[in-house]
Formats: sequence, C-alpha cells, structure tokens
Amino acid sequence: MCGIVGYIGNREAYPIILNGLKRLEYRGYDSAGIALYDGEKMHLSKTKGKVADLEERVKSEIPTKGSLGIGHTRWATHGVPNDINSHPHVSNSGELVIIHNGIIENYATLKKELINRGYTFESDTDTEVLVNLIEEIQKQENVKLGKAVQIALNQVVGAYAIALFDVKKPDEIVVAKLGSPLAIGIGEDEFFIASDASPFIEFTNNAIYLEDEEMAIIRKGRDIKIRKIKGDTLVDPYIQELKMNLEQIEKGGYDHFMLKEIYEQPAVIKDTYRGRLLADKGIVRLGGLENYIEKFTNADRIIIVACGTSWHAGLVAEYIFEEWARIPVEVEYASEFRYRNPIITSKDVVIAISQSGETADTLAAIKLAKQKGAFVYGICNVVGSTISRETHSGTYTHAGPEIGVASTKAFTTQITVLTLIALKLAKEKGTISQSDFMLHLRELELIPSKVEEALKSNDKIEEIAEVFKDVSNFLYLGRGYNFPVALEGALKLKEISYIHAEGYPAAEMKHGPIALIDEHMPVVVIAINSNHYEKVVSNIQEIKSRKGIIIAVVTEGDKDVKEMADYYMEVPNTPEALTPLLTTISLQLLSYHIAVMLNRNVDQPRNLAKSVTVE
Ligand code: F6R
Repeated sequence: MCGIVGYIGNREAYPIILNGLKRLEYRGYDSAGIALYDGEKMHLSKTKGKVADLEERVKSEIPTKGSLGIGHTRWATHGVPNDINSHPHVSNSGELVIIHNGIIENYATLKKELINRGYTFESDTDTEVLVNLIEEIQKQENVKLGKAVQIALNQVVGAYAIALFDVKKPDEIVVAKLGSPLAIGIGEDEFFIASDASPFIEFTNNAIYLEDEEMAIIRKGRDIKIRKIKGDTLVDPYIQELKMNLEQIEKGGYDHFMLKEIYEQPAVIKDTYRGRLLADKGIVRLGGLENYIEKFTNADRIIIVACGTSWHAGLVAEYIFEEWARIPVEVEYASEFRYRNPIITSKDVVIAISQSGETADTLAAIKLAKQKGAFVYGICNVVGSTISRETHSGTYTHAGPEIGVASTKAFTTQITVLTLIALKLAKEKGTISQSDFMLHLRELELIPSKVEEALKSNDKIEEIAEVFKDVSNFLYLGRGYNFPVALEGALKLKEISYIHAEGYPAAEMKHGPIALIDEHMPVVVIAINSNHYEKVVSNIQEIKSRKGIIIAVVTEGDKDVKEMADYYMEVPNTPEALTPLLTTISLQLLSYHIAVMLNRNVDQPRNLAKSVTVE
C-alpha cells in the first residue's frame, strides 16, 4: 500500500513525480504529497485526497522547479488521512525529508524516547518518528545520512520502502526496503525511484529491484551503492531489463482500467498458456514445475494460501486438482493460516497465489510453511515480486500490469495456470484418461475465443445493470466449480459498487439465506450446463416460489433456465471444469456497469488499495 516516487538527475523532477504518482495511485489514494528541491530550498506540498487534488494545490503553493524530489500517495495506516499525516514528512531541523510505504511497529516506543530528547511531532504517523530517529542518530553519532539510516533501520521493527534526502546534501537520495517493494530506474546520469517500474517506463528499461534488508545510496551523476542493512556488506547491483511497456499501463481508449482489463482477458489468457500448452502434441510444459513434479505427486496434500480474489482462484483449483490429480487440497486464507499454528510437514506442498506478489499475509504464510519444511510454489503476476522470490519455485501468470484495484484478468489467468498444473499432475499420476486430458487441453486453447464471445453480451448486461443499480442487496449462487465464481461475483460487486452482496453454494441457501428472499432480492444464479444443472434448476424454483428475482448465467442454447429466469446472461459451452473462465466474465461486467451507473470510482474504490502490504 502507498506508492512512492523519487527522481534525481538533470530533468525537471516535478512532472516525472506527478505522473509517477498518478500511475501508482492504485496503491493508495487517501492523500498525496511532494517535496522538491529547487537548488536552494526544499518546497513541500501535501493534501488529503487524490493526486489530482495535490496537482491543484501545488499550483498555488510551491514552485515546481528543481531536479531532485520525492512524492507519495497514501493508504492510511497510522493516523487518519488528513493534510498533516500525508507524506513527505520532515525532521525537526527541517533538513531531512522522507516518504515511506509500510508500517513501523515499534514507533510508539521510539517516539517516546525522541520526545524525551526534545523532539516534537506534528502528525500521528510512524514515518515522522522514523525521520526524526534518523536525524537524532546523525547528530549523536556524527555520521553521514546513509549510515544514520542504516543504524535507524536496525532499531526498527516493521516493514518499509523508504526514500529520503537531506537538503544540506542535495546530490543524493537514500532508499531502503524490507517487505515493501522498491525499484530503481537507471537512466543516463539520472535515477528514478518507485514502488514499481510504471513511473519511469518511458525513460529507461533498466531497473534494480532492491531485495529485503537492502539499502542504496543513489548519487546524482555518479553511481549506486547497495548494501545490506544488517552486517554492512556491499551488494553488486543486478540490473534487470524491463519487459513492461507504456501501452500496458495506459487506458488505451477505455473509460476505466477495469474495463480495459476485462477486455484484455482473451489475450492474457492466451499469453498465460502460450508456449506452455501444446494441445496438438498433448504436452503441458511449465518451467517452474518440471524439476519438482515429484514433490507434488508424492505430496500428502496441497495447501493453497491466498487472499481475496486470489483465494477464490484457489477454491476453483481445489475442485480441479481433486477431480483430475486426486491430490487432497485445502484452501486457506493466508491471514488465518499464518496465526493458527497449522499442521504442516515436509510431505505437504503449499501453493501461494498472489497477483501483486507483495500481499503481507500471503508472504507470512509462505515463510511459516517454509519454516515447517513444506515445499512452496508461487503463482504470481508481478515479475520479481517478493512472493515470487520467497517461494521455492513457481509459475507466472502473464496478465500484464493490473491497475484497476478490483482484480479481473489476474483471476482468470491464475485459473489458467492452476488448470495447466492440475492437468500436468493428473497426466503424470495417471489419474486422468488420455481422452479427458486431450479434451481439456484442446478446450483450454479455445477459451480466449469463448471469452470474446462472452464479452459480446456486454450491452445486454449493461441493460440488466440499469434495472438493478439501486437495490441494496444481492445474492450470488453457484455450485461445484462455480461456487467460487459466486463468491468472486459478490466480492466484485461489493468492492466497486458498495452494494452488499453475498456469495453462497446454491444448495446451502435453504440452510439460512433463503429467509432473505422476497420480491426485492435479486439472486444471480450460475446455472450453466453441468452435472448439477437439474439441482440448480430446483434451487431457482425455490427462489421463484418466494418471489425472488433471478438473473441467471446460462450456457448458449439453454432453454429451461432461460424460461424461468427474469434476466439471463449467456456464455459459450465448455467442459464444466473450465466454465469459471467464462461465467466470471459476465459477473465482472455486471459489477462494472452497476458501479459506473452509481458514479463510483471504479478503478479506485474507497478504502481499498491494490497491494495489501500490511496485515
Ligand atoms: C479483489 C482484490 C483483492 C486481492 C487480494 C489479494 O478484487 O483485488 O481481494 O485479490 O488483496 O491480492 P494479491 O493477489 O495481490 O495477493
């Protein structure tokens, strides 16, 4: 959470930082701020609200000249979102200025000690404590800024990606990382700092991703010195070539990133299986899995850990892994798993699913599973992310940057990877027939064109959204492979429209939620061709006889459900195990249109942030 940006070089820093903050706004958007050094003085401007509010404020508040600066967009942890708690924060002398993404857990103790030494604090933030701690160490120990940062970080408990400079020494920025991401873009005689590479992608393709417990001293026109925060050893910079391009992080003519990302699904599902799925030859090839197949096939069980939408992808995987590979699967919320002393042995395989690869709870669950001897496999979207590095091996989804806070294409590409893994393991174990194996490989190859078909219902789904945009509650029902899709559909609606929605296994309805049904309750029922079709039809009848309103997701060519439903959305036919890749599309569009009609901020829903790097 929170986005940080910095620049040191020969260009004007302000437009780079402002634009960078706009690109990182998905990470948090409670408040924003900027500190610029104009060659003589440091100028600070910050405000509650969005980066656009900051842009307005800067116009009347500070000069925007200068080629050194740092900026921040915040998702509040310590201290409510207001102007004072916004970053950057300045030390008591006015000389050090810092931006921070993360949490300093022992800030209260440190703050007391600093107050005893005469420091005063304006904000309620942990970050203001950190910058003053660094200042105090600089004074007491008479050391340079880099050393003072290092000593301070050794006293700190928590997570951080920080960037700071000293107005007395405006040719350097010091950065450090533990638990929150930090990328350094390398240009000619210039350096960019950011939470991900998107703020500097048009300036350079070369970047260094700091590892946890590393810090860097970045000197204008000179070099970068990276060292370990503990132990002080120097680290050779590893410069990566970025694959991301500008087009991927722009809206490309769509009104919202979310809509663009929904429409990208045919392409990114294909990108995710390209080179891995060779349907004609009957081959699934996953680089990260090849050397570890036996870990999976000999495993007592697979435990999947994830949060939110990624957890829903894990639930879909439970059905397909058990069906095809016959390996017991448990799906755990990472946040629960990490704190309940779970029983894990070296015979367990843990799969961690995360779009961002930075989710704090998932990361902690991975560390715990590793401590207990399990083999941990990661499924991440962001290349080089912390989770992709913490896991023993893994497979990337190729969804490209997902900027909309509500996850869409990450979900379907996660399911694509999980389907490939399940098919590969099933083949290896001999638990799937050759004909079933081949059928699913061929059908998976057809999914992108079937997603395109499903997207053609957009206008019709928009009309349905118009009918229901003003209701207060929704129920989503699904069975089997589509029970997790019902959960995901409800989550999508909640997070972007703020309408209350519940997802349930259809048959559970009669054990409680049926009491909610009346003529005002819309019920979205996933009623596609499946083994449970007749049973879902019965569930629909139960709802209809209590005057509930049915919005059904049906398979093209369906007759019975179409007749019973008040509204329906069609998806093409596909084998049941692959249906989540299609039914999800209709539910994403339904949520999207309702949220747009309600004038919600679809890409940046309230209180949320794209990557949850705090507990
Ligand atoms: C919902 C959503 C969140 C994330 C969750 C996990 O649309 O985006 O529920 O799925 O925060 O994030 P990752 O996958 O980055 O670990």
